[in-house]
Amino acid sequence: MINLGILISGRGSNMESILNFLKSEVTSVCPKVVISSKSEAEGVKKASALGIPTMIVSMELKGWDYDKELVSILQKYDVNPENGLVCLAGYMRLLSPEFVVKYKMRIMNIHPSLLPSFPGLNSQKKAYDYGVKVTGCTVHFVDEGLDSGPIIAQKQVPVLDSDTYETLSERILQQEHILYPYCIKLFSEDKLVVKGRRVIVTL
Ligand code: GAR
Repeated sequence: MINLGILISGRGSNMESILNFLKSEVTSVCPKVVISSKSEAEGVKKASALGIPTMIVSMELKGWDYDKELVSILQKYDVNPENGLVCLAGYMRLLSPEFVVKYKMRIMNIHPSLLPSFPGLNSQKKAYDYGVKVTGCTVHFVDEGLDSGPIIAQKQVPVLDSDTYETLSERILQQEHILYPYCIKLFSEDKLVVKGRRVIVTL
Protein backbone atom coordinates (compact mmCIF):
# COMPACT_ATOMS: atom_id res chain seq x y z
CA MET A 1 0.00 0.00 0.00
CA ILE A 2 1.22 3.48 -0.90
CA ASN A 3 0.30 6.21 1.59
CA LEU A 4 -0.42 9.46 -0.19
CA GLY A 5 0.13 13.02 1.01
CA ILE A 6 -1.02 15.87 -1.22
CA LEU A 7 0.37 19.39 -0.96
CA ILE A 8 -1.74 22.29 -2.24
CA SER A 9 -1.84 26.07 -2.16
CA GLY A 10 -5.07 27.02 -3.89
CA ARG A 11 -8.10 25.77 -5.80
CA GLY A 12 -7.28 22.08 -5.41
CA SER A 13 -8.93 20.76 -8.57
CA ASN A 14 -6.08 18.32 -9.24
CA MET A 15 -6.24 17.15 -5.64
CA GLU A 16 -9.98 16.64 -6.02
CA SER A 17 -9.58 14.64 -9.22
CA ILE A 18 -6.96 12.43 -7.55
CA LEU A 19 -9.16 11.84 -4.50
CA ASN A 20 -12.22 11.11 -6.63
CA PHE A 21 -10.20 8.72 -8.76
CA LEU A 22 -9.01 6.87 -5.66
CA LYS A 23 -12.58 6.63 -4.41
CA SER A 24 -13.88 5.20 -7.68
CA GLU A 25 -11.03 2.84 -8.65
CA VAL A 26 -9.48 -0.13 -6.93
CA THR A 27 -5.86 0.88 -6.29
CA SER A 28 -3.22 0.30 -3.67
CA VAL A 29 -3.08 4.02 -2.83
CA CYS A 30 -4.44 5.31 0.45
CA PRO A 31 -4.89 9.11 0.72
CA LYS A 32 -3.75 10.09 4.20
CA VAL A 33 -3.50 13.85 4.42
CA VAL A 34 -3.82 17.09 2.44
CA ILE A 35 -1.47 19.86 3.54
CA SER A 36 -2.03 23.44 2.40
CA SER A 37 0.47 26.28 2.48
CA LYS A 38 -2.46 28.71 2.65
CA SER A 39 -5.21 28.65 5.26
CA GLU A 40 -7.77 30.18 2.88
CA ALA A 41 -7.09 27.71 0.05
CA GLU A 42 -10.31 26.54 -1.61
CA GLY A 43 -8.82 23.04 -1.79
CA VAL A 44 -8.87 22.67 1.99
CA LYS A 45 -12.68 22.70 2.03
CA LYS A 46 -12.81 20.28 -0.89
CA ALA A 47 -10.48 17.82 0.88
CA SER A 48 -12.53 18.00 4.08
CA ALA A 49 -15.72 17.39 2.10
CA LEU A 50 -14.09 14.26 0.70
CA GLY A 51 -13.25 13.09 4.22
CA ILE A 52 -9.48 13.53 4.09
CA PRO A 53 -7.62 15.07 7.06
CA THR A 54 -6.30 18.54 6.26
CA MET A 55 -3.47 20.51 7.78
CA ILE A 56 -2.27 24.06 7.20
CA VAL A 57 1.40 25.02 7.30
CA SER A 58 1.30 28.74 6.65
CA MET A 59 4.02 29.92 8.99
CA GLU A 60 6.67 32.40 7.88
CA LEU A 61 9.49 29.87 7.83
CA LYS A 62 11.71 29.28 4.83
CA GLY A 63 13.43 26.30 3.22
CA TRP A 64 14.13 23.27 5.36
CA ASP A 65 12.80 25.01 8.50
CA TYR A 66 9.38 25.10 6.81
CA ASP A 67 9.71 21.69 5.23
CA LYS A 68 10.54 20.08 8.59
CA GLU A 69 6.97 20.94 9.57
CA LEU A 70 5.76 19.14 6.44
CA VAL A 71 7.85 16.08 7.29
CA SER A 72 6.51 15.90 10.81
CA ILE A 73 2.90 16.04 9.55
CA LEU A 74 3.57 13.51 6.79
CA GLN A 75 5.17 11.15 9.31
CA LYS A 76 2.28 11.61 11.71
CA TYR A 77 0.00 10.38 8.91
CA ASP A 78 2.39 7.56 8.02
CA VAL A 79 3.52 9.04 4.69
CA ASN A 80 7.16 8.01 4.99
CA PRO A 81 9.97 7.69 2.45
CA GLU A 82 9.57 3.89 2.58
CA ASN A 83 5.83 3.65 1.97
CA GLY A 84 4.72 7.08 0.83
CA LEU A 85 4.16 9.30 -2.16
CA VAL A 86 3.95 13.10 -1.94
CA CYS A 87 2.01 14.76 -4.75
CA LEU A 88 2.29 18.48 -5.38
CA ALA A 89 -1.00 19.71 -6.79
CA GLY A 90 -0.80 23.43 -7.38
CA TYR A 91 1.66 23.73 -4.49
CA MET A 92 3.31 27.11 -4.97
CA ARG A 93 6.44 26.72 -2.86
CA LEU A 94 9.82 25.31 -3.84
CA LEU A 95 10.74 22.29 -1.75
CA SER A 96 14.10 22.41 0.02
CA PRO A 97 16.90 20.08 -1.16
CA GLU A 98 16.71 18.32 2.22
CA PHE A 99 13.05 17.42 1.66
CA VAL A 100 13.71 16.29 -1.90
CA VAL A 101 16.57 14.03 -0.78
CA LYS A 102 14.47 12.59 2.05
CA TYR A 103 11.60 11.60 -0.28
CA LYS A 104 13.83 10.92 -3.29
CA MET A 105 11.80 9.85 -6.35
CA ARG A 106 8.71 9.74 -4.17
CA ILE A 107 7.54 13.29 -4.93
CA MET A 108 5.52 14.09 -8.05
CA ASN A 109 4.41 17.38 -9.51
CA ILE A 110 1.93 18.38 -12.22
CA HIS A 111 2.80 21.28 -14.43
CA PRO A 112 0.60 22.99 -17.07
CA SER A 113 3.02 22.94 -20.01
CA LEU A 114 5.06 20.47 -21.99
CA LEU A 115 8.27 20.69 -19.96
CA PRO A 116 11.03 21.73 -20.38
CA SER A 117 9.12 24.52 -22.13
CA PHE A 118 7.60 27.21 -19.94
CA PRO A 119 8.57 26.20 -16.38
CA GLY A 120 7.61 28.36 -13.41
CA LEU A 121 4.48 30.42 -12.98
CA ASN A 122 1.74 31.30 -15.52
CA SER A 123 2.92 28.64 -17.96
CA GLN A 124 -0.33 28.49 -19.93
CA LYS A 125 -0.11 32.23 -20.56
CA LYS A 126 3.56 32.05 -21.49
CA ALA A 127 2.81 29.31 -24.05
CA TYR A 128 -0.23 31.18 -25.41
CA ASP A 129 1.66 34.47 -25.71
CA TYR A 130 4.62 32.72 -27.35
CA GLY A 131 2.29 31.44 -30.04
CA VAL A 132 2.99 27.72 -29.77
CA LYS A 133 0.59 25.46 -31.69
CA VAL A 134 0.78 22.61 -29.18
CA THR A 135 1.11 22.76 -25.42
CA GLY A 136 -0.14 20.50 -22.65
CA CYS A 137 0.77 19.22 -19.22
CA THR A 138 3.52 17.20 -17.60
CA VAL A 139 3.76 14.97 -14.56
CA HIS A 140 7.32 14.60 -13.30
CA PHE A 141 9.32 13.49 -10.32
CA VAL A 142 10.57 16.42 -8.28
CA ASP A 143 14.27 17.12 -8.00
CA GLU A 144 16.07 20.12 -6.51
CA GLY A 145 15.33 22.37 -9.50
CA LEU A 146 12.24 24.24 -10.67
CA ASP A 147 9.95 21.92 -12.68
CA SER A 148 13.06 20.05 -13.76
CA GLY A 149 12.84 16.45 -12.53
CA PRO A 150 12.50 13.29 -14.67
CA ILE A 151 9.34 13.33 -16.77
CA ILE A 152 6.83 10.54 -16.12
CA ALA A 153 4.15 11.42 -18.69
CA GLN A 154 2.87 14.27 -20.83
CA LYS A 155 -0.41 15.06 -22.58
CA GLN A 156 -0.58 17.30 -25.61
CA VAL A 157 -3.22 19.99 -26.03
CA PRO A 158 -3.50 21.80 -29.38
CA VAL A 159 -3.75 25.57 -29.32
CA LEU A 160 -6.75 26.54 -31.45
CA ASP A 161 -6.95 29.78 -33.42
CA SER A 162 -10.18 30.50 -31.56
CA ASP A 163 -8.58 29.98 -28.12
CA THR A 164 -8.29 32.62 -25.48
CA TYR A 165 -5.76 32.10 -22.75
CA GLU A 166 -8.68 31.04 -20.51
CA THR A 167 -10.15 28.42 -22.87
CA LEU A 168 -6.69 26.98 -23.45
CA SER A 169 -6.00 26.80 -19.69
CA GLU A 170 -9.31 25.03 -19.15
CA ARG A 171 -8.54 22.35 -21.76
CA ILE A 172 -5.07 21.82 -20.27
CA LEU A 173 -6.64 21.45 -16.82
CA GLN A 174 -9.02 18.77 -18.11
CA GLN A 175 -6.02 16.77 -19.30
CA GLU A 176 -4.19 17.35 -15.99
CA HIS A 177 -7.12 15.74 -14.20
CA ILE A 178 -6.70 12.59 -16.30
CA LEU A 179 -2.91 12.45 -16.36
CA TYR A 180 -2.11 12.85 -12.67
CA PRO A 181 -4.24 9.98 -11.32
CA TYR A 182 -2.89 7.77 -14.14
CA CYS A 183 0.72 8.47 -13.07
CA ILE A 184 -0.07 7.86 -9.40
CA LYS A 185 -1.59 4.52 -10.31
CA LEU A 186 1.50 3.57 -12.33
CA PHE A 187 3.70 4.47 -9.36
CA SER A 188 1.59 2.40 -6.99
CA GLU A 189 1.84 -0.60 -9.33
CA ASP A 190 5.63 -0.26 -9.35
CA LYS A 191 5.59 0.36 -13.09
CA LEU A 192 7.91 3.37 -13.15
CA VAL A 193 11.62 2.70 -13.54
CA VAL A 194 13.89 5.75 -13.33
CA LYS A 195 17.08 5.54 -15.37
CA GLY A 196 18.87 8.85 -15.05
CA ARG A 197 16.52 11.43 -16.55
CA ARG A 198 14.41 8.82 -18.28
CA VAL A 199 11.36 7.26 -16.65
CA ILE A 200 10.50 3.95 -18.27
CA VAL A 201 6.92 2.72 -17.93
CA THR A 202 6.89 -1.06 -17.68
CA LEU A 203 3.33 -1.95 -18.63
C1 GAR B 1 -2.60 23.51 -12.09
O1 GAR B 1 -2.82 23.99 -13.41
C2 GAR B 1 -1.19 22.99 -11.96
O2 GAR B 1 -0.71 22.35 -13.11
C3 GAR B 1 -0.44 24.27 -11.71
O3 GAR B 1 -1.25 25.00 -10.83
C4 GAR B 1 -2.62 24.68 -11.10
C5 GAR B 1 -3.25 24.29 -9.80
O4 GAR B 1 -4.63 24.10 -9.96
N1 GAR B 1 0.86 24.01 -11.15
C6 GAR B 1 1.94 24.73 -11.45
O5 GAR B 1 1.93 25.69 -12.19
C7 GAR B 1 3.22 24.26 -10.79
N2 GAR B 1 4.36 24.86 -11.36
P1 GAR B 1 -5.44 23.26 -8.91
O6 GAR B 1 -5.12 23.86 -7.53
O7 GAR B 1 -6.87 23.48 -9.30
O8 GAR B 1 -5.02 21.83 -9.00
